[in-house]
Amino acid sequence: MNVLKIAALALITSVAVGLGILLSGVFNVAADDPHWAATRWLLEAARDRSIAARAGGITIPPLGDPTQIAIGAEHYSQMCAKCHLAPGTESSELRRGLYPQPPNLVDASDLSPQETFWIIKHGLKMTGMPAWGATHDDDSIWAIVAFLHKLPELSPEAYRAIVGAQSADAHPHQHAQHHDANEAGHDEGALPKIGPAKGP
Ligand code: HEC
Repeated sequence: MNVLKIAALALITSVAVGLGILLSGVFNVAADDPHWAATRWLLEAARDRSIAARAGGITIPPLGDPTQIAIGAEHYSQMCAKCHLAPGTESSELRRGLYPQPPNLVDASDLSPQETFWIIKHGLKMTGMPAWGATHDDDSIWAIVAFLHKLPELSPEAYRAIVGAQSADAHPHQHAQHHDANEAGHDEGALPKIGPAKGP
């Protein structure tokens, strides 16, 4: 047997063993069972390369107009803060159970605006990060990107003021205009209303 045949046989055997292990059920998909360090490294490296390869060609529109930032703030408070936190919010029940853990976006990020836009629009597979492009147009997503640049500078009071100002201005919700026509606006942050208990 020549070297090539031995190498091919070794490759086939390792793929078969790998598949066997995966399909046997031994791999734990539980969100409370962290990846091995090597698996995490591989997944993060693949994610970073994938985003960089796709985001590079995106053209950045003008960012930073106060109205745009206020629209972004309102989207953020309604759709993102439960996972990514906000000034003055340390944790949330939703965030604590997620794996991978959503980064705290109050901390400054080293992502480019194009990368941030791409992630928000397309989401990230197998992480819990939704693809907001399914329900929001590009202008809304750029408004969120503009707001995210501002977020690390905001005190809890300034955050509440910017979020409150936009919500008070826009009834019904500014946000609903950017949704698909068949959606009634967002209720991502709303808790189900529990009515009075019915008698037996
Ligand atoms: C259900 C929870 C959840 C919600 C809601 C959510 N995200 Fe995420 N997001 C995640 C998770 C989890 C990650 C981390 C994925 C990873 O580690 O690869 C993430 C990653 C990101 C990242 C990449 C950050 C980095 O430094 O790598 C950005 C930017 C982001 N989200 C923005 C948003 C915005 C903006 C919203 C609201 C429009 C939002 N997310 C809503 C769970 C969420």
